[in-house]
Amino acid sequence: MLAIIGGSGLTQLANLNIERREVVRTPYGEPSGALLFGRVCSVSVVFLARHGYGHTIPPHMVNYRANMWALQHAGATGVLSVASVGGIRADLGPGTLVVPHQVIDYTHSRCSTFFDGVDGPVTHVDFTEPYDAVLRRRILAAAAEVGEQVLDGAVYAATQGPRLETAAEINRLARDGADVVGMTGMPEAVLARELDLPYAALNVVVNWAAGRADSEHEICFSSIEQTAQAAMARVRVVIDRICG
Ligand code: HPA
Repeated sequence: MLAIIGGSGLTQLANLNIERREVVRTPYGEPSGALLFGRVCSVSVVFLARHGYGHTIPPHMVNYRANMWALQHAGATGVLSVASVGGIRADLGPGTLVVPHQVIDYTHSRCSTFFDGVDGPVTHVDFTEPYDAVLRRRILAAAAEVGEQVLDGAVYAATQGPRLETAAEINRLARDGADVVGMTGMPEAVLARELDLPYAALNVVVNWAAGRADSEHEICFSSIEQTAQAAMARVRVVIDRICG
């Protein structure tokens, strides 16, 4: 069963026929909300809104461990993460859809491992390729089938938030090789890896990153909303196809 984690702009899956809700307790505390089980195009999926159903949990307060544990416990065999990002690279403006292939983690102070040394041996996971190749291809193939242009491969920079970045920080991320910037991609991706859960992301560029193009002096929140709404409608079509 595929799990879909919806980010800002995707707190509901319009194409999900909900059959049941389940509040899952985990050894790591509360997930962001109840898990919604249902069908998209007759395929079973489980959906979770990363920021809660009322969009009240900021990126640095999301209980990523509880979310990933709950999804696996509920029977998820793969996780599709939908998240909005800022565009750093000159060809990645608002409205672009991206399936990243790499991550740079700038977050801090988040519970970012299940292997925290409390019990069990010291454990390291391989994270050379942070996203699952098969799931990435599935997203890209579905997008191609519905005629949706999606960029195959980008370096995702995960920042701490909840504030947006300074222009100088974005310049630094660009020098590091980052193409897009978001606040939730980590530790989600590595926790999935620790659980051996295939994980891939579909990112929606909703603004130019700080200091870039029309965000040269400030980032306009009202246009973020509009861009996100329009793009999430396209994301839903892609999700339909992934499942269908
Ligand atoms: N920075 C960080 N996270 C984001 C952005 C951004 O510009 N846009 C959407 N999520």
